[in-house]
Amino acid sequence: MAMIRIENLRKSFGDFVAVQNSSFAIEDGEFFCLLGLSGCGKTTTLRMIAGLELPTSGHIFLGRDEVTAKRASQRDIAFVFQLFALYPHMNVRANIGFPLKCEGRPRGEIRGRVEETARILHIEHLLDKSISGLSSGDRQRVALGRAIVRRPAACTIAWARPRSMSLMISSRPCPWPTRSRL
Ligand SMILES: Nc1ncnc2c1ncn2[C@@H]1O[C@H](COP(=O)(O)OP(=O)(O)OP(=O)(O)O)[C@@H](O)[C@H]1O
Ligand SMILES: [Mg+2]
Repeated sequence: MAMIRIENLRKSFGDFVAVQNSSFAIEDGEFFCLLGLSGCGKTTTLRMIAGLELPTSGHIFLGRDEVTAKRASQRDIAFVFQLFALYPHMNVRANIGFPLKCEGRPRGEIRGRVEETARILHIEHLLDKSISGLSSGDRQRVALGRAIVRRPAACTIAWARPRSMSLMISSRPCPWPTRSRL
C-alpha cells in the first residue's frame, strides 16, 4: 500500500491555478522527488501534503487514512522549509533536539537521538557549532536532522533544485516526479 497517495489535487489562489490535477503515490521507504521549473507548484504540493495549505479540491491519503482536511498537527509529517528556518540563537545540537524538547522527552533520550541523527547525516562534528558559521549545505543537513529526529511517518523537503538538475528539467513545465528506494 502507498504511504502517501495524492488524487487529482488542485490548488487555486483566487483565479490563479498553482497546482492542477496532480496525482501520484509514494511507497513506504521511497525517496521521491518533484522536479520542475520555478513556480510550477512543487512547494504548494508539499505544503498541502504536510497540511500547511488546504487543497481547493482532490484527496490526500496517508496510509489508509484520508487527511485532506486534517490540520498539520494531526498528521505525522515533518516539513523541511526551503529557507531552512533554523533557530539562529541555538547551536546545531539544540536545533536538532528542539522538537524532542517540545515533546517533553528526557534529556538523555534527546541527547542519544540527536547524536544518532547527526551520525546518519554525517554532521557529528558540527553538533556544538553555532548556526551562523555553517555553510548552506550544512544548514540543509541540520534542517533535515531537526525534521527526522522525531521519527515522523513521512518527511517533505522543499529545497531549491540543485544546479546540476536544471538542464534535466528545463523542458518540463510541470512538477515531474522521480523516485528511488531508500
Ligand atoms: N499564498 C499564495 N498566494 C498566491 N500565489 C501563490 C501562493 N503560494 C504560491 N503561489 C503561486 O503558486 C505558484 C506555485 O508556487 P510554488 O511555491 O509551489 O512553486 P515552486 O514550484 O515551489 O517554485 P520554486 O522552484 O521557485 O520553489 C507560483 O506562481 C506562486 O507565485
Ligand atoms: Mg518551491
